Amino acid sequence: MKKYHITTFGCQMNVHDSEVLAGILEKNGYSPAASVQEGDLILLNTCCVRENAENRLYGNIGNLKALKEQYPDCIIGVCGCMVQQPTVVEKIRKTYPQVDLVFGTHNLHELPKLLEKIEAERSQLYEVWDSEGEIHEGLPVKRNDPFKAWITIMYGCNNFCSYCIVPYVRGRERSRQPEAILAEVKDLIATGVKEITLLGQNVNSYGLDFKGVDFNFAKLLQEISALDIERIRFQTSHPKDLSDELIQVMADHPNICRHLHLPLQSGSSRILKLMNRHYTKESYLALAEKIKNKIPGIALTTDIIVGFPGETEADFQDTLDLVEKIRYDGAFTFIYSPRTGTPAAKIADPIPENDKKQRLTRLIQVQNEISLEKNRAFIGTLSEILVDGVSEKNPQIWSGRNTQNKLIHFKPASKIKPGDLAVVQINSAQTFTLEGELLV
Ligand code: SAH
Ligand code: SF4
Ligand code: F3S
Repeated sequence: MKKYHITTFGCQMNVHDSEVLAGILEKNGYSPAASVQEGDLILLNTCCVRENAENRLYGNIGNLKALKEQYPDCIIGVCGCMVQQPTVVEKIRKTYPQVDLVFGTHNLHELPKLLEKIEAERSQLYEVWDSEGEIHEGLPVKRNDPFKAWITIMYGCNNFCSYCIVPYVRGRERSRQPEAILAEVKDLIATGVKEITLLGQNVNSYGLDFKGVDFNFAKLLQEISALDIERIRFQTSHPKDLSDELIQVMADHPNICRHLHLPLQSGSSRILKLMNRHYTKESYLALAEKIKNKIPGIALTTDIIVGFPGETEADFQDTLDLVEKIRYDGAFTFIYSPRTGTPAAKIADPIPENDKKQRLTRLIQVQNEISLEKNRAFIGTLSEILVDGVSEKNPQIWSGRNTQNKLIHFKPASKIKPGDLAVVQINSAQTFTLEGELLV
């Protein structure tokens, strides 16, 4: 039996695409390889959101050269966001002859056909669609976790934030039909799934592409929350499209988790305008306050970019100010990375790289203090967790997450198994984790 190995870079969207690729391969007679070396088919599912993601990919392809020389029959494939850029495909073609197969985000459903062709002809095959086709329902999925499942509810992005490459490599927004999503959720419930995460680059614009049909993300969430599913999460929410209706649906349904990822990107209204984000410092703050008031106990997390072209110290102070006012539970922080083809890459940028690095360090310091304080507030309280299993770092310790998405470590107990909902009393807190004792 042929074996496959997939290495995935990038966001949950890509992680889930890899689950679909694995599903397709297993349906076509492949089985998983224990290591890259064992793979008859080696796939790299790529990300290009920042330059370092691209560099890691080139490093990986470079490393596969020796393997290809040793096992010339293995097929090395590159797919995902990065290869939706023609310049990248050219670079691979010129520099990395060990790559046999290239396909993009819009034609991953074609994998069996591409493999058949490549095996028959034993030649390189590069096939990347430059625009999105129909949504392909019913593709097989090999899920990594039996209790927690990703569900893509929409593809693409229409927002064109000025720094971001995603709309160029993922195409325009296309929403799946609600019936297809609900059927998928019901199937997952039947197999024992406890938690689902609905995925889209901006889930708040779900359904806007349904012509003449009055349906939206809040209504989809409402329908899903009526099903017998313990936990529902979703990401990502663009602040400009987060409706009162959605906040109300969250408030009304306790099985929608008390966590919202609400990317800020910058706290400066001037920079937000240059980023094409369509909100201001003041309107974002008002939105965050409204959410906190309407959904008590909600955890807010965010994404922040420092060093956008021309970001001044005063702009950065606005970001720090908002972080301190909102008091996020956690933040993913990035240094701006110019992406060729995006409008921001053309803006003059006199800010030295070192200033950007220092701003990142300062921001992380402020946020980490807040994260720790917020986590300490859990000490002495009870949290219901969905048990994940043995902690990655220490087999003596188990982990799970509460509704606020806090990672909680605890000592194992004989009655507990992955997928259980259990109650933990929180005894101590760190910046990124809580520790507690299981109350069975
Ligand atoms: N659609 C989601 C996720 C986009 S990518 C959203 O809108 O939030 C995830 C994060 O990467 C973004 O939120 C942003 O903070 C960051 N990012 C995107 N492009 C970037 C760039 N050119 N440089 C640095 N960070 C970037
Ligand atoms: Fe990128 Fe903005 Fe779309 Fe998110 S919403 S994927 S940051 S363009
Ligand atoms: Fe990266 Fe593509 Fe996701 S560029 S962040 S893998 S949508």
